[in-house]
Amino acid sequence: MSEVYSASVTAPVNIATLKYWGKRDTKLNLPTNSSISVTLDQAHLRTLTTVSTGPQYLASKLYLNGHEETLNKPRLVAVLMTLKELRKEVEAKDPTLPKFSDWNLLIVSENNFPTAAGLASSAAGLAAFVTAIAKLYQLPQSFSEISKIARQGSGSACRSLFGGFVAWEMGELADGSDSKAVEVAPKSHWPDIKAAILVVSADKKDTSSTSGMQITVNTSDLFQYRIKEVVPKRFVDMKDAILKKDFNAFADMTIKDSNSFHAVCLDSTPPIFYMNDTSKSIIKLVNLINDQSIANGEGLIAAYTYDAGPNAVIYYEAKNEVKILSTLYKYFGELPGWEALDDALLAGVKSVE
Ligand code: PMV
Repeated sequence: MSEVYSASVTAPVNIATLKYWGKRDTKLNLPTNSSISVTLDQAHLRTLTTVSTGPQYLASKLYLNGHEETLNKPRLVAVLMTLKELRKEVEAKDPTLPKFSDWNLLIVSENNFPTAAGLASSAAGLAAFVTAIAKLYQLPQSFSEISKIARQGSGSACRSLFGGFVAWEMGELADGSDSKAVEVAPKSHWPDIKAAILVVSADKKDTSSTSGMQITVNTSDLFQYRIKEVVPKRFVDMKDAILKKDFNAFADMTIKDSNSFHAVCLDSTPPIFYMNDTSKSIIKLVNLINDQSIANGEGLIAAYTYDAGPNAVIYYEAKNEVKILSTLYKYFGELPGWEALDDALLAGVKSVE
């Protein structure tokens, strides 16, 4: 009888509120600045990965959404080598364990949302890839330690190892051993924070984040100002706003940081455009919503942010859900995704005049 061992995990998408943009080491994926993200609810956005191994597997294979993908990419090779080395340490301690480190792997991954359209699919994908193998290999390392391996596959993936509010500390060391994800606060600390995603386009982006970052690092003057003068303070202040559950401050910094990231993209040569006209109209609408709430003395109630693509992510507190979603629905009701809301909420959103 053939011997097969398997493990399955799901990994969530995270959307940065303080953006990672720029690598100081492209091989190890070491960033030029620290970043912060919110991990989204897995019901709508997640990668499910099952990994199996056995002595009879002739080659390692990876399937993503039903299509075979190459494992022969330098970053995936590096990640697999690191995981195998750690498995060897486990096997050395207990020689009765099967020799997984000598066997090939079958990795089957599936996203329940569009891949590579600026919805952080690589973050969830790499996080699931690494945690599934770590689980199969029964590695004893902590999530923060495993996050360093995920980081080598895709920088932002390291933040998908945790739920809730997560920081990726850039670190200082050249070998990357201090560049890791840590929890700022669990979801339960501020459970009322919700995210709406408006899928403006599900097409693949034209400029990958890896090449976009390098164009910015090499050509933008504004980028130097961002990483030296803006982000270090914002990193401290945003963690503080999360710990104090200060939505006004959190929203203000989230919006400013999205703008700052897209500004350094525009300041690159050639300029990089990730937002389109629909993205900009959504920004205007969120500004109108906030102008009204500021006039009512409530402060900011909605925070938009855009990654390397045109899709909007809007953070808000549960108490303002119907108000915000009904306004967005009135102007952007034709965009896909509204059916993901539960029936009662969608009926409420549609009924507001
Ligand atoms: O980890 P990557 O290479 O997919 O880059 C992610 C870059 C942004 O999504 C734009 C920002 C971030 O911090 O997630």
